[in-house]
Parts: sequence; structure tokens; C-alpha cells
Amino acid sequence: MRLTAACVTPNSLAAAVKLRCRMAASSATSAMARELADTALPVDVIFLHASRTPGDLVFRNELASLATKLKGFLLYFLPETLTGETSWSGLHGRISRDLFKLIVPDLTERVILCCGLAPFMAAARTISADLGVPPENYIEESFDAAVIDDAPLPMTDEAVLAPFKVEFAKQGRTIDVTSDQTVLSCAKKAGVKIPSSCSNGLCGTCKSKLVSGTVDMNHNGGIRQREINAGFFLPCCSKPLSDLVIER
Ligand code: FES
Repeated sequence: MRLTAACVTPNSLAAAVKLRCRMAASSATSAMARELADTALPVDVIFLHASRTPGDLVFRNELASLATKLKGFLLYFLPETLTGETSWSGLHGRISRDLFKLIVPDLTERVILCCGLAPFMAAARTISADLGVPPENYIEESFDAAVIDDAPLPMTDEAVLAPFKVEFAKQGRTIDVTSDQTVLSCAKKAGVKIPSSCSNGLCGTCKSKLVSGTVDMNHNGGIRQREINAGFFLPCCSKPLSDLVIER
């Protein structure tokens, strides 16, 4: 089996890939990389993982480890800025035609799988087309996952769960959120502005400062322990356990 892939990732996760054979689809690039490793078959993959800063590179250590073990898996990290890691010696900046030509000289012979935020994918799509990648060889996976509506509360003889008050201090808004709902889903429904992307605790886009209150957070790597210790949380995967005040 020969796989050829070029992967591109915004904020935290995305991919542009070229496949010369069938591969079971993996929605996340990290899952795809793990799957490649599990096959133990020769691969030909160029994986570009982009982010805002080096510290925002999700699965950085896991991918780096994989690249040392998996023959034919060529990994590039591409932070946009070097904030927080000035000793960075690798590539940095945004994706561009020159970058693609440099790291994927045989781009037109590959299938591109791109996963990321809409603006990032638009840029990757344009660059790929400009460089001659046929449309059928360019595949996108949207990272703008829809916010999953919280399940309706089961009706019991007890009263329906009383909602907590969630205050967005900078916007001067307070909304109701029950312990079965995520803060982000209710905020979106109420028109409160919180940047978001994956809605699954993965990308870190919604990271916010929790001024007071406690939440039940089930993230997928989109926040570090030191950030949690500093009072940050991810509204997309957090349900309130008390009234909250959020610095938004
Ligand atoms: S939107 Fe991605 S972590 Fe919250």
C-alpha cells in the first residue's frame, strides 16, 4: 500500500492529504496518523500541522513521536507566530504557494485532505487549485462542527432542573444554563458571542476565563492543565455546576 498525503492544519487541527489507495476515513488528522501507524505498512504522507503559536499545536508530542517511528510520514509544524517559543527553529507563518511548493513538490500527484477552519480551508483550496491540483484530488473536512443541541431533560415527578445563571461580564449578558447543557450551546442560542470551531473541546478556540463558579468540563486536548489551573475553561464542552461569571 502506498499512501501519499499532505496535511494542513489551522488553529489546532486540519489536514490536506493525498492518497493513492483506499484508506479508512478518519475524521481527525491525528486519528488518521494513528491509523497509518497501526497499519504498519509503507506510507508516503506529508503532514502539515498549522496553528496560531507553537503552544497551540494540538497532539504535538504525539505527532512528533509518530513521525520518528513511521517511515514515510513527513511531518511539518507551522505556527503562525512564535509567541511563547522564540527558540523555535522550524517553519512559521501562514500557508502559501511558496510553502506548498517547498514542502510538497509533487503536490499535483497527490490527493489533498484538508481539515480546518473555513478561512484556512479556503486558502488551502485556492493555493492547491493555483498549483494545479485537480478538484477531484482535493478533499475537505469541515472543522466548523455544528453545536450539538443538548438532549431535552427527562421529565420526572421532580421539578425540571433549575438553570444556573451564567454571566458574560464584558457583554453584560446573563443567560440560563442547566447542568445538562453546555455553556457554548446556550450562549449561541442566546446570541452571546464566543468564538468557536470544533465544539468538541479539541481546538481551543472557545477558551475563556472563568471568573467564578465551577463547571464539569470534558475536553479532548484543547486546553492544557496549566491553563485550567489559571482559571480558563472550554465553554463548548463544559456544563455548569454552579452560577458562573465568564470574562467574555
Ligand atoms: S470550540 Fe473547539 S475547543 Fe471549544
